[in-house]
Amino acid sequence: MSKINRIKGFADLFPPESTAYVFMEETAREVFSRYGYQEVRIPVLEHTELFARSIGQETDVVQKEMYTFPDRKGRSLTLRPEATAGVVRSYIDSSFSGAGMMAKLFTFGPMFRYERPQKGRMRQFHQINAEIIGEDSPWSDAEVIIMLWSYLKKLGLQSLDIEINSLGCAGCRPGFHNSLKAYLKMLDQKALCSDCRKRSESNPLRVLDCKVPGCRDMMEDAPRINSNICAGCESHFETVISMLESFGLKYYLNPNLVRGLDYYQRTTFEVISHDIGAQSSVAGGGRYDGLVGSLGGPDVPGIGFACGMERLALLLQDLNDRPKDFYLAVLHEQALSKGLLLAQRLRDKGFSGDMGFQVRSVKAQLRQANKMGVKTCLLLGIDELEKREIQVKDMETGVQKTVGQDDVEQALGLNIKGKNNNFVRKG
Ligand code: HAM
Repeated sequence: MSKINRIKGFADLFPPESTAYVFMEETAREVFSRYGYQEVRIPVLEHTELFARSIGQETDVVQKEMYTFPDRKGRSLTLRPEATAGVVRSYIDSSFSGAGMMAKLFTFGPMFRYERPQKGRMRQFHQINAEIIGEDSPWSDAEVIIMLWSYLKKLGLQSLDIEINSLGCAGCRPGFHNSLKAYLKMLDQKALCSDCRKRSESNPLRVLDCKVPGCRDMMEDAPRINSNICAGCESHFETVISMLESFGLKYYLNPNLVRGLDYYQRTTFEVISHDIGAQSSVAGGGRYDGLVGSLGGPDVPGIGFACGMERLALLLQDLNDRPKDFYLAVLHEQALSKGLLLAQRLRDKGFSGDMGFQVRSVKAQLRQANKMGVKTCLLLGIDELEKREIQVKDMETGVQKTVGQDDVEQALGLNIKGKNNNFVRKG
């Protein structure tokens, strides 16, 4: 039979890579819950219109990157290219919105974008999303950014830069659009890519985000949004910035940071790593004040971010699963059943470990224990079975001693330090 291949741009994740994903998720749960966030789980498949309306018809994501197909009844469905639209839809459907409550929600999971795969860019990739819906205070922007930063620090990451910008609001954006349109009109239209020619009229902000080098060059002298925002947006932005300064967070103002999704207003930000190649943005986010209303919900604001787990995983390659606490080597057929019960008792007490289901030589089983990196190997032969004992071998010192079967927990306990932490750094 021929082998069935994986889809291009989709990956299987095994340890140690998958270890990094578990570490990122567990750390996010721990950190975000301290800020009052609750975990939501939402579908990966949504009506296409959700993304077209929220991310925006003119964006690369909607125009070129979505996995869209009809279901069996001909309805257009899309594998989510990002999570914010789905979280907002779920908020609107939930009791939070009915009660007009502020919601702090986070979610993890796979996203799908038909992009050209390369290091740090996949067609199925994973995000950690955090969103605050129902709060427009600049202090919430600051808290979101500080939480993201604290999370990345808790992962042990260093050498990251944070870039920040304000995109103005529904009030001041039209004025900026007009000056951008006037600038675009002065340019040689033929030198712009075909997408940008269309976007010059319909959505000029997207031209600022174009990745085609020719368009980029032509936009170098374009008007900057941060010098065109209204007094309200300016004071909002200044409060955010001054809070980041009080926190001691070094940021870079980037007036070109427009982000690739249409729903953003006011504060936008990205976290950049210089250690992972061209796909350097490890997290991005911003405020989306008109989004909930535009998706049929109450007119409430929102802000959030998403971390790209593939990119963070590139920075967490030194992470390993903590070795198991024990390996139980059974040295005689008659000891298998006792061995399984003993291993179960230890696991019930919170120890982690494995046992060999085949009776093999002591040498072979010690080799196996060594390979697993366990600190302790337990050896159970016919003699031990009869005497209700077990051999406990410290794999580091090589010291082996006989203990009663009722005392294994104590013997293991003495041999294991820091049992509550599931992850270790290599080296
Ligand atoms: P985004 O900038 O499109 O924002 O994606 C966020 C992060 O996801 C990026 O910074 C990057 O790390 C990762 N990412 C994006 N595309 C790929 C890919 N093809 N392969 C690997 N990683 C990728 C959003 O998705 C917004 N929904 C974020 C947000 C939440 N804004 C407000 N709330």
